[in-house]
Amino acid sequence: MQKSDGISDSLFIRACRGLPTERPPIWMMRQAGRYMPEYRKVREKVSFLELCRTPDLACEVTMQPINEFGFDASILFSDIMVPLPPMGLAVDFTPGPVIAQPIQNESDIAKLKTFDPNEELSYVMDAVRAIRKALPSDTPLIGFAGSPFTMMTYCVEGGGSKAYPKTRAMMYGNKKATHALLSKLAQVTADYLVAQANAGANALQLFDSWAGILPPSGFEEFALKYAKLVIDNVRERLADQCVPIIYFANGCAPYLNVYANCGADVLGIDWRVDLAAARKALGSVPVQGNMDPGCLYLPPEELRKEVISVIEKGRSTPGHIFNLGHGVMPTAPMENVRLMVDTVKSWSA
Ligand code: CP3
Repeated sequence: MQKSDGISDSLFIRACRGLPTERPPIWMMRQAGRYMPEYRKVREKVSFLELCRTPDLACEVTMQPINEFGFDASILFSDIMVPLPPMGLAVDFTPGPVIAQPIQNESDIAKLKTFDPNEELSYVMDAVRAIRKALPSDTPLIGFAGSPFTMMTYCVEGGGSKAYPKTRAMMYGNKKATHALLSKLAQVTADYLVAQANAGANALQLFDSWAGILPPSGFEEFALKYAKLVIDNVRERLADQCVPIIYFANGCAPYLNVYANCGADVLGIDWRVDLAAARKALGSVPVQGNMDPGCLYLPPEELRKEVISVIEKGRSTPGHIFNLGHGVMPTAPMENVRLMVDTVKSWSA
C-alpha cells in the first residue's frame, strides 16, 4: 500500500503512477546547468568532475533550479559517466566525456569490475542524502543512470560519436562480446540505482540517450532488453517501496510499438514525435516530455502556445509529466524557462 505523505501525494509521483492531476507536473532534463548564472559561478571555482564528487556543491547546484523556478521535481546533479571509474575505466570531461582506454574486446570486458556503489560511489549517496534534506518535503528527488546500451556506446567509442562506428562493429561483428558488455553494465546500473533509492531518491530515470541510432530489431536486442533487465532487477529489490522508474529512449519514434515492453512506470518521449500520437500508440502508460528544447528561444507568446499545446496533447490519459524532449541547452534564456514553468503551473482545464 502507498503511504500518504508529501512525496507520494506530489503531482510528480501521482503522474508517474497514472493518477489524475489538476495540471501536469514539470521538471526539465539538465535543469541544473550552464544556462544558469549561479551554476556558472560555481563552475568557475571547480571542475565538472569535482562538482559531481563534492556532495555539498552537488546539493547546492541541484537546488538552484528548484529555488529559482519552483520545478515540481528535482534531479540529482551528477553524470551518467560516474559509475565507469569504479568499473576500471578512467573518464575525463573536455567538456564532453572522454574515456582514455575504450573497450575493444572480450578480455577488456572480462576485466571490468562490478562494485558496491555504497562504498565506491559514497559521494553520490552523500549527495542524495544532502539533497533530500535540503529539498521541500513534498518535492521528489529523481536519481538516474545511463542505460546499458548508451553506456556501451561511451565505453566502446571512448566518448561521444556521430556515426558510432566502433559500437556498430562490435554489435554486428562480435555479438558475444556485445552481450557480455551489456550484461555487465546492466548489473552495475541496477546496483547503482538501488543504492540511490536507498539513500533517498524518490524516482529513478534510465537515460538511453543514443538508442535512436538503432534499427527496430536492434533496439529490442541491444537497448530494450537490457533496460528491462535493469528495471526488473531494481523493481524486485525495491518491491516494498514506491519508487517509479522512467525509461527515456531518445529517438523513440520508430519503436513505439514495443517501447512499453521495457516495463517502466513512465516512458520518456523526445521532441521528434507528436505527443498525442505517442499517447495513442502507448495506451495508458504515463509519459514524460516532450517540448523541443529549441522552443525556449521562441518569442514569449509563441512559447506559451507551444507549452499549452504540449499540455493539451498530453492529457488524453492521466499520467503526463511535462518536460523538454531532451536536455535544456546551455544558452537557453532564463526568462523563457521561467515563462515555461509559470505557464504549466497556471494551466487549468
Ligand atoms: O539533468 C540534470 O540537471 C542532472 C544532471 C545531469 C548531467 N548529465 C549534468 C551535466 C544528467 C542527468 C546528465 C546525464 C547525461 N550525461 C547524459 C544523459 C542525458 C542526455 O543528455 O542524453 C549524457 C549522454 C551525459 C554525458 C555527458 N555529460 C555529455 C555528452 C556532456 C557534455 C555535454 C555538453 O553539453 O558539453 C556531459 C557534461 C555535463 N553533464 C554537463 C552537465 C551540467 C556540462 C558540464 C559543465 O558544466 O561543463
